Amino acid sequence: MSNRMWGGRFASGPDAIMAEINASIDFDKTLYRQDIAGSKAHVAMLAQQGIIAAEDARAIDAGLDAVKTEIDEGRFVFSRELEDIHMNVESRLAELIGPAAGRLHTARSRNDQVATDFRLWVRDTIDDLDAALADLLQALAEKAESHAATVMPGFTHLQSAQPVTFGHHLLAYAEMVGRDRGRLADARKRLNECPLGSAALAGTSFPIDRFATAHALGFDRPGANSLDGVSDRDFALETLSAAAIAAVHLSRLAEEIVIWCSAQFGFVRLSDRFTTGSSIMPQKRNPDAAELVRAKTGRIVGALNTLLIVMKGLPMAYAKDMQEDKEPTFDALSSLSLAIAATAGMVRDLEPDVKALRKAAGQGYSTATDLADWLVRVVGMPFREAHHVTGRAVAAAAEKGIALDKLPLEALQAIDARITAEVYDVLTVERSVKSRTSYGGTAPQNVRRAARTWLKRLTKEAAAKAGAV
Ligand code: ARG
Repeated sequence: MSNRMWGGRFASGPDAIMAEINASIDFDKTLYRQDIAGSKAHVAMLAQQGIIAAEDARAIDAGLDAVKTEIDEGRFVFSRELEDIHMNVESRLAELIGPAAGRLHTARSRNDQVATDFRLWVRDTIDDLDAALADLLQALAEKAESHAATVMPGFTHLQSAQPVTFGHHLLAYAEMVGRDRGRLADARKRLNECPLGSAALAGTSFPIDRFATAHALGFDRPGANSLDGVSDRDFALETLSAAAIAAVHLSRLAEEIVIWCSAQFGFVRLSDRFTTGSSIMPQKRNPDAAELVRAKTGRIVGALNTLLIVMKGLPMAYAKDMQEDKEPTFDALSSLSLAIAATAGMVRDLEPDVKALRKAAGQGYSTATDLADWLVRVVGMPFREAHHVTGRAVAAAAEKGIALDKLPLEALQAIDARITAEVYDVLTVERSVKSRTSYGGTAPQNVRRAARTWLKRLTKEAAAKAGAV
């Protein structure tokens, strides 16, 4: 059978393998809400402009609502013969309301239709992701506030560097998540132009009002060029790149959680809620959720690559290649949403082992810089010289196999006679972090203030949102 929707010049139906490669309904049914919303806006505008009769518009509008209810309730029978969500909806509309349904597709094409649907879907998803990221921020800030003074080793090159606080470490991730939200918000701004009315590629001879449909669908304005309207997928690419960066951040935290949970580090403990056991090794408590967050990043970065490569070299305007935009985008953004939720769950669940962290914080001569800074401040040495003297102190401690603050005063004075007992004050990890009061530094008072700033910002944001609804 030739196609019911466009089969005028076709004598026979497609080869089975053609149908197989061509049909997108299995995945683009995800777009049904957006597709129906787009059609409702379009039909209202057609009637408004006198392009179709008000009576037909009413029948179409009611019919579209009925189709939506059928899909919502799982009663809709999707047909692969009808290729995609657009033709499935329109065909069912014709069954429900008769020939008036045929007027819906006036002055539009599936090309501008799908571009509109997909934009709307990506926009809705950005909003969901933003809310999920806000929740993750909340989790990070709350945990950071309660561990503003919990000392831990700070690393560079994964070598003990200087003590920091656990709260400070978590708030580094809060900064990343804050930027992720900013990137999504930027993408949303540029996304928010409506392609509907671009028609197949050239616009239309009907007197449509593109501003009306754009406005009805919550877009800022219609897109200015019809060729671009049907062929642009920047909005998906930008969202995927913001998603990929966000996923990379989650993956870094996940990696740290995996390391921290190991017996060798023992920095934090995840409860039974976020770990699994081993079927053979009874002692095991595996951080599977963290591992899976780390791994999901592969799919998300992969999706960005996939779409970049699909789009590369496509001539103007629409090409069926673009049908391949949806599956990776759907998969990546739902994977990201799951990864964010799992990360927020783990952050709330994890309990740092304060004692173990403190012990580790003092290892690796982590307060050597504090000694050098003391020599500069109190003795008046140039920093380069202080660095050298401190290096000799570290070597002396290493030779004895003891920590820097356990080195006897005579040993220190043998290196530089100007060192006094006062120096021991700065050699403890607590004193070290407390002294880091420079803006953005790890001092507990800074961390507490930063955590509270985040929490206040989030509360304000939630109140503004609630007020806007
Ligand atoms: N399923 C198609 C897609 O996702 C809809 C647009 C089809 N347009 C066309 N001219 N065949 O891209």
